[in-house]
Amino acid sequence: MHEFRHKNNVLYCESVRVPDIAERVKTPFYLYSHHTLVDHYRKIKRAFKSVDALICFSMKANSSLAVCRALVNEGAGLDIVSGGELYKALRVGVDPKKIVYAGIGKTRREIEEAMKADILFFNVESLPELILLDSVAGSMRRIVNVSLRLNPDVAVKTHRYIVTGTSESKFGIGFEAARRIFERSDAFPNLRINGLHLHIGSQITHSRPYVRALRRVYAFIKKAPRNLQYLNIGGGLGIVYGNERPQTAHRFAKAVLPIIKKTKLKLILEPGRFVAGNSGILVTKVLYVKESLNKRFVIIDAGMNDMVRPSFYGAYHNIQPVVRKSHGRAPHMVVDVVGPVCESGDFLAKNRRLPMVIEGDILAVMGAGAYGYTMSSNYNSRPRAAEVMVIRDRFYTIREREIYRDLIKGEVIPRELR
Ligand code: LLP
Repeated sequence: MHEFRHKNNVLYCESVRVPDIAERVKTPFYLYSHHTLVDHYRKIKRAFKSVDALICFSMKANSSLAVCRALVNEGAGLDIVSGGELYKALRVGVDPKKIVYAGIGKTRREIEEAMKADILFFNVESLPELILLDSVAGSMRRIVNVSLRLNPDVAVKTHRYIVTGTSESKFGIGFEAARRIFERSDAFPNLRINGLHLHIGSQITHSRPYVRALRRVYAFIKKAPRNLQYLNIGGGLGIVYGNERPQTAHRFAKAVLPIIKKTKLKLILEPGRFVAGNSGILVTKVLYVKESLNKRFVIIDAGMNDMVRPSFYGAYHNIQPVVRKSHGRAPHMVVDVVGPVCESGDFLAKNRRLPMVIEGDILAVMGAGAYGYTMSSNYNSRPRAAEVMVIRDRFYTIREREIYRDLIKGEVIPRELR
């Protein structure tokens, strides 16, 4: 559930009229409902209450400071994947002992920064990474917690770009290699290899692949000779974009908790989409309606640079008019909703049945709170959109729209070219 609802044909975010925000902020902008965000966090926290799981929100889904701060205020930790995310996490004010750091390509500098910050642990994805971590920890005279990311080799029904737990994937370490690492753990005197990490993919709507992966992990744990402390089962929980019927947090917990409890390890989850996905929308204006030979295009002021999921994954996002035309059953039309970017792949919807819209109408692209702003770019030298958060009956700009000056930040024309 989320708190973007039409009342008397006008879209509200909590108790604020979206057209009023659009009037003030101008389009396009991302709009978040604070209550929806926090509510989704609480849902997952509550579902795993019996084991007091640490929920580390995955910043890659949405790393805006206000969004992360709202979750940190609720007690969330953060799952990071780069030095940049570490920097932002610290700015948000999260307890570093609630930061977990994943990713297959951490640089020495990033590792040093995270060690200095004294984060909870590193999720390690390869032997060479382990060797580097040990040497950096040694030179900093620290003992550092490490979780090994296992690749459980389970197939998951989702977009092929977001499957991460099969043997074809670049992520994680196979069970056999992990077993050898545990056997040789003396070779890493500066590391405490005391956790296991899993992340099998994203937008997974059923608990079955998790259970399958966890069974394999449990079999591994039974034979693991070490004093393990942490089990991090990653993120990946799917949400409703269109007609998906994803598991609830409660059903998911019910399916996986029996195995998790048997491990007796401290549980960590890293949800991104589940927490943020339906708590945000992208608000955009219709610039033109263009008729071609056999198509009708609704051209909007948000493009693939603002929201790349449809172009990149063919992802479906529901699109709704912010003000519904009230006169009876409004006529519909089948259209491509496209952006201004010079690419045929720049679309937010293809062959979509929409109520008739005209120039100047405002549209809401739903389910845009995760992997929306974080995947945006300046392609076509388009300034990035603003971000706004509604808290009950007030709205706050949590990030200004970029201005043209931002487009040339750090650029220099060498004297020789002047
Ligand atoms: N933990 C790890 C190690 C991850 O790699 C990810 C996401 C997460 C947690 C959070 O996954 P979530 O709960 O959000 O599914 N850009 C794609 C999704 C890529 C996911 C990458 N990893 C999209 O827009 O669908």
